[in-house]
Amino acid sequence: MIVAIDGPAGAGKSTVARRLAERLGFRYLDTGAMYRALTWLALQRGLPTGDGPPLGELALANPVTFDREGRVWIAGVDVTASIRQTRIDQQVPVVARHPAVREVMRDRQRQLGAEGDVVIEGRDIGTVVAPDAEVKVYLNADSSIRARRRQAERPGIGGDALATDLRLRDQSDAARMRPAADAEQIDTTTLEVDDVVARIERLVRERQPA
Ligand code: DC
Repeated sequence: MIVAIDGPAGAGKSTVARRLAERLGFRYLDTGAMYRALTWLALQRGLPTGDGPPLGELALANPVTFDREGRVWIAGVDVTASIRQTRIDQQVPVVARHPAVREVMRDRQRQLGAEGDVVIEGRDIGTVVAPDAEVKVYLNADSSIRARRRQAERPGIGGDALATDLRLRDQSDAARMRPAADAEQIDTTTLEVDDVVARIERLVRERQPA
């Protein structure tokens, strides 16, 4: 079974998807981490982030992998911590917007998703990567709450800078942030993580064969 969890930055996707996967005994696939890893490699190699086709080739030649501990690897390097830097936050939407990049990434995501029960988190999972996913959820929250959650993850950065970053990222990601028509939309603004997880778990149990 595939559980697709989409939504904007700071909506709570990662925390919810991780905890849900743990509770269900499903694998967890973070597709944002894949775009982040590619962005890290492009910067490392000095490739311009505005030019799509070479980035698509870079992605094809360097498939992102996740090890058993959930660490993220690209080109033989463990980039788990490096991909959470601000410079990656800022550049990743630029890299992720190229069709050549998305094509390679989506193929890889389908390949990784095909290996059994999995919770996949991203922006376009329910719409494009896994339109046949048995459960589709779209998480959202007020922008001030999303900025506050991001702040907790990036304590070194000022609140205003983060809010601006988030707004720019939302604009850039907007084209891919459409909820699937058949997605369950959950506003997490006032909800606890465990409540969101429990709600999705119920959907999963309803659709799981007895
Ligand atoms: O969820 P995140 O912040 O780690 O995502 C990083 C970036 O990758 C974000 O700008 C949107 C993009 N992304 C995407 O375009 N498609 C996905 N399936 C996942 C992430």
